[in-house]
Amino acid sequence: MITAHALTKRYGATTAVDGLTFEVPPGVVTGFLGPNGSGKSTTMRMIMGLDVPDSGSALIGGRPYAELAWPIREVGALLDAKAFHPARTARSHLRWLALTNDIPLGRVDEVLDQVGLTSAAQRRAGKFSLGMSQRLGIAAALLGDPGVLLFDEPVNGLDPEGIRWVRHFLRGLAAEGRTVLVSSHLISEMSMTADRLVVIGRGRLIAETSVADFVARSGGGAVRLLTPDADAFTAVLAAAGAEVAGDGDGSLRVEGLTAPEVGDLAAPRGLRIHELAPVTASLEDAFMELTQAEVEYRPSTAPGAVDAGEGER
Ligand SMILES: Nc1ncnc2c1ncn2[C@@H]1O[C@H](COP(=O)(O)OP(=O)(O)O)[C@@H](O)[C@H]1O
Ligand SMILES: [Mg+2]
Repeated sequence: MITAHALTKRYGATTAVDGLTFEVPPGVVTGFLGPNGSGKSTTMRMIMGLDVPDSGSALIGGRPYAELAWPIREVGALLDAKAFHPARTARSHLRWLALTNDIPLGRVDEVLDQVGLTSAAQRRAGKFSLGMSQRLGIAAALLGDPGVLLFDEPVNGLDPEGIRWVRHFLRGLAAEGRTVLVSSHLISEMSMTADRLVVIGRGRLIAETSVADFVARSGGGAVRLLTPDADAFTAVLAAAGAEVAGDGDGSLRVEGLTAPEVGDLAAPRGLRIHELAPVTASLEDAFMELTQAEVEYRPSTAPGAVDAGEGER
């Protein structure tokens, strides 16, 4: 379990993390979602004791990182995929980590195997592709067999096969009962990897919820209707108080009535329905809606337009 309470971090005039409170429970993958610059990495560094909060706390199993007796055996993290000496082999990188943390050396080959690096174990890590570096970083995080794991944008720069592998791997770790926090600025990625979401913007909490609830929150209650009787239907719907708009693909978007209400209006009038369903917003729509005010940098709408947003620096 990770617990952040009123966590705050300032860099000069920038408040990178702003009163952030959330929990990361064991047994599920918690996605840490936010636009670039929203404070994800800063939060993860504070959890890992690499940055000191200005106020608030970040606890692992109820204790700050600095108070953990054997940190590497309680929490593992992949924060920077290139955090190794480039001239060392993958195996020697893991061996010094094991030796300095009183971890049996047999563990090194175990984790190399787990991440699929056995055949590259004797190669210099500096020559690794980004995907292989990410795997080595994950191996290092797993070395102490910790119950809590943090991964900062682990799929950035990976090819589709690598992304699939990471996704599957993280889900497996959570299924073993571990606490897994994985950050991303990619909504689609989170929808496929995470069970729960902690969504932030400009360092502040926007939502802490299941992926399903997050999407449901911004469904808007619209109904999609496909009918060959569009004109007659539109008149009936309008008379019933609904707002009707063409959706471009030949279907109608109806607001102000539920799908059953639309169907019940059609039946006595003999209006034909080919498709009728509530519109579910995508996770992307939900994210855009909720983070609109929270994006740090956005292009100005017109050349020379002045953005008065407080994020301008
Ligand atoms: N070491 C630092 N010094 C100064 N500003 C920083 C530092 N680290 C992060 N920031 C600023 O804090 C904000 C949050 O950054 P970061 O935590 O890296 O966001 P994310 O990981 O969500 O992209 C940004 O405005 C960033 O420029
Ligand atoms: Mg980051």
